[in-house]
Amino acid sequence: MIVNTELESKGDLFPSKIINFKKDVDKLYFSADNDVILELTVVRDSLLRFRYTTVGTFDNDFSYAITKYASIGYNKLEIEEKETCYEVTTSKLRCEISKKDMKVSIYDAKDGTLINQDEGGFHWEESYEFGGNIVKMSKVSNNGESYFGLGDKPNHLNLKGKRYDNWVTDSYAFGKDTDPIYKTIPFYTGLHHGKAYGIFFDNTFKSSFDFAHERRNVTSFWSQGGEMNYYFFYGPKMNDVVESYTDLTGKPHHLPPLWALGFHQCKWSYYPESKVKEITSTFRKLKIPCDAIYLDIDYMEGFRCFTWNKEYFPDPKRMVKELLADGFKTVAIIDPGIKIDKEYSVFKEGLENDYFCKRADGDYMKGKVWPGECYFPDFTNPEVREWWSGLFQELIEDIGIKGVWNDMNEPAVMEVPNKTFPDDVRHDYDGNPCSHRKAHNIYGMQMARATYQGLKKYSYPKRPFVITRSAYSGTQRYTSTWTGDNVATWEHLWIANIQAQRMAMSGFSFAGSDIGGFAEQPQGELFTRWIQLGVFHPFFRVHSSGDHGDQEPWAFDEDVTDIVRKFIEIRYQLLPYLYTAFWNYIDHGAPLLKSLVLYDQEDVQTHYRTDEFIFGEQILACPVLEPNAKGRRMYIPKGNWYNFWNDEIVIGGKEKWVDADIDSMPIFIKEGAIIPKFPIQQYVGEKEIKEITLDVYYKKGKEKSQLFSDANDGFDYTKGRYSLRNFRFTGKSKDLIINQYKEGKFAAPYDTFKIQIHGLPFEIGVIQIDNESIALDHLKVDGIHSFVVDKDFSELHIFSI
Ligand code: GLC
Repeated sequence: MIVNTELESKGDLFPSKIINFKKDVDKLYFSADNDVILELTVVRDSLLRFRYTTVGTFDNDFSYAITKYASIGYNKLEIEEKETCYEVTTSKLRCEISKKDMKVSIYDAKDGTLINQDEGGFHWEESYEFGGNIVKMSKVSNNGESYFGLGDKPNHLNLKGKRYDNWVTDSYAFGKDTDPIYKTIPFYTGLHHGKAYGIFFDNTFKSSFDFAHERRNVTSFWSQGGEMNYYFFYGPKMNDVVESYTDLTGKPHHLPPLWALGFHQCKWSYYPESKVKEITSTFRKLKIPCDAIYLDIDYMEGFRCFTWNKEYFPDPKRMVKELLADGFKTVAIIDPGIKIDKEYSVFKEGLENDYFCKRADGDYMKGKVWPGECYFPDFTNPEVREWWSGLFQELIEDIGIKGVWNDMNEPAVMEVPNKTFPDDVRHDYDGNPCSHRKAHNIYGMQMARATYQGLKKYSYPKRPFVITRSAYSGTQRYTSTWTGDNVATWEHLWIANIQAQRMAMSGFSFAGSDIGGFAEQPQGELFTRWIQLGVFHPFFRVHSSGDHGDQEPWAFDEDVTDIVRKFIEIRYQLLPYLYTAFWNYIDHGAPLLKSLVLYDQEDVQTHYRTDEFIFGEQILACPVLEPNAKGRRMYIPKGNWYNFWNDEIVIGGKEKWVDADIDSMPIFIKEGAIIPKFPIQQYVGEKEIKEITLDVYYKKGKEKSQLFSDANDGFDYTKGRYSLRNFRFTGKSKDLIINQYKEGKFAAPYDTFKIQIHGLPFEIGVIQIDNESIALDHLKVDGIHSFVVDKDFSELHIFSI
């Protein structure tokens, strides 16, 4: 058993023998003679939910994490009572529940492999201080088993041998070993014998996970209160586990507006207006693409949310409009702390309507944040969320702000040892009143949700864009996120890489770090390497605190500016590729970044890799994480890959040195891929795009690629007005075929594709489009074979001479 060192334990308690079994449609109840009941729900053939009570009845079943849109339903459910156990079988899983102690063992239904097994199983300790139980679960950990996930933990990708706590925490200048930090995502994937499963412990109290740290053959998770309530997902592919978890806790409700996938420039703080304009006009002057500019807390009047400092920003509406005319979308920060000020309308409304959090004995929860003493809305109350959403009307509808950045929503409180509310603060929890012990981890999520609802309403018919610092499982439905206050060090570049990958395998792909580091100042080289990584992070923003000098692409030297420009341009070229990947994320939960283990779990070499990852489905990227490097060693996953820079083909399945001087980084394209590219723009929508380039990477064999387009904003795509082009590539030694299948009703603005074929092993003799030969005179045959075709071809067939 995992020892609980903090509480004098009265001793762990366990279920006794099962004396009763009952079935109610998809729910199975196993009752022990000491009042423990296990409620086993068959959600899907590969998804089971385990929920335990120790008092004979269950509490109201309520979760902020689970989406109402989750897929449910199974093909098969059989229950058999055997001599020593109950056996529950679906088409994917067989689950045995032992009669003598309620312990659970889960097997692959097809080949009988034991996937996951209780060690101590469910047990608990009574909580004298708060009532209820400290609920615990321990599972067998096998030799060679690996663990992944858990959100934003800043350490090695493989969690084996580590112990972590989940309690969202403002962690200024956190480090590799700081735990916990900003997010709570109590979901992990286990991988053993090439088969992956997932466990999501949906409990919002402070929880802990021990991955064979205390005892080498035990993995456990426990929580300071609430229920033992976990979901078990079976793959056996890790990608399916991640997609299934994402389906359960929710895919983003919408695509982001396309501009939000562009480059964002931020600082604490750009003010006054002339400074903001100086920054944006320098981007345009230097021709560095950028789509978003941020206003940090100094735009407000004394840090009062929803106000403006009129000295710095005399006419925000005009400014925002002018910025927009130059292609810049303005994003403004909004924190949860509302300044105690009887003259301040937001404070007054909150007070009059009783919207602020209170302590157990009735006083308001008072805490210091940027504005000084504040009260804090109880975002767990639906009425408060509604009010909060309404506060955005002026900011969005009237002033024209295009995105909102929610910060300090752990909630962070200054000058107190625990950095947040005391445990006794009361919350509505959507009609399930509770203390802060239970609501802490979801407070920020509910703030982001209320913000999202406001933006959705007032940005309409455009799509909302929100960023949050704190998050619990499911927050990805509403918002993007960043990894909080990091530091300008090489170690933090490593951490940023880990965190973005880990977030993606934890269902929350739309994430990025403060590029260059928030605290302290990077040297040009570190900044450059960080931008290179950022190109491959879904959320791509430079941010830094105000007190360490400038951190714009031109703040270093000219070489840095040029290299940074070149890389941001690559991002802008890859926008249709990333947008297509995002479509697959919102459509079926496909993570935008795939760590190598997620990409190829059968190759055991991938289980302990940290640096390389797949961006979307077909681009392999690996940041350079050390100073003075001329390249690096990296693992190339199995298959053949094209070096992005020179089209050299490398054969994967081994480690390799890859040249990457400061103006380069290791990037590879999977053979057979068709990568769609935009022309370079200074911001999304600058140009009307009449032609999309398709970079086709020859392969002997077959490969699938896609291109998604819609109006780049708005909700029409939800009514079928999108265009999804599915490409099937077939390469042979003397010919090559690309078939195109189209879905959707959107008439894309581009007319043609510029096809660029890389690595073609033969000379082109004939090109046929839908069985008609085309003239070859505009074909460039030296280097890349390049020609233009109408976008609506069904079959493009290239024959050798
Ligand atoms: C917090 C945020 C940071 C922001 C600062 C001022 O430290 O994490 O991003 O710039 O507050 O608002």
